[in-house]
Amino acid sequence: MKEIALYFASSNEGKLVEVRTMLEAAALPICVLSAKTAGGMPFVEENAPDYIGNARLKARALKASLGKDAWVLAEDSGLEVDALGGAPGIHTARYGSPDASSLVKCAELLAEVDERSETNRKARFVCVMILLTQDEEYIFRGECSGTLARNMLGEQGFGYDPIFIPDGHNTTFAELGARVKNKISHRAQALNALMGGLHSLTHLQ
Ligand code: IMP
Repeated sequence: MKEIALYFASSNEGKLVEVRTMLEAAALPICVLSAKTAGGMPFVEENAPDYIGNARLKARALKASLGKDAWVLAEDSGLEVDALGGAPGIHTARYGSPDASSLVKCAELLAEVDERSETNRKARFVCVMILLTQDEEYIFRGECSGTLARNMLGEQGFGYDPIFIPDGHNTTFAELGARVKNKISHRAQALNALMGGLHSLTHLQ
């Protein structure tokens, strides 16, 4: 069976590693290529009103630079914190001090939540993925609920992993590591749905 090149529309290395690891483990005739191998991820102003819209903007931008036959996978994700009324949500990538490190952004978010609410630390990660094949668009969604830690814990993963404790665990994503995170995360759930779809799509090639 012919292997399909699937271009991942992101310049976030952490996301790319997770997506590649999970898709490769599924033994599909798919090869995940970074946007870098296609000349880099084009700049996209993520100004859509929701995750689907932003994922679509990224997917279409990369497809436009690759040509109509290319298969492209894009995602938009975010962290929704109850004590902040669901923020940062779709604005997560641009939240906190501009140009600050992930660790500084984690500390800033914890400080903001501590100021607002002593008790309600509920939060969830949301991920929407868009797959563009030659002429179709497919949408997949995943969500992972949890609570915010009191302090940053763990060194694995990326972004807000050091402060997010998924339900059913008492350590953060950054402590749990890829093996556990890739089974339960928002991205894993969206990818599981996508992989179900890819099974039938790749068999049609
Ligand atoms: P975007 O999808 O490029 O808009 O970025 C979403 C932002 O949400 C990332 O830059 C991270 O800060 C955060 N984020 C999304 N998924 C995760 C995750 O799995 N772990 C930690 N942070 C994440």
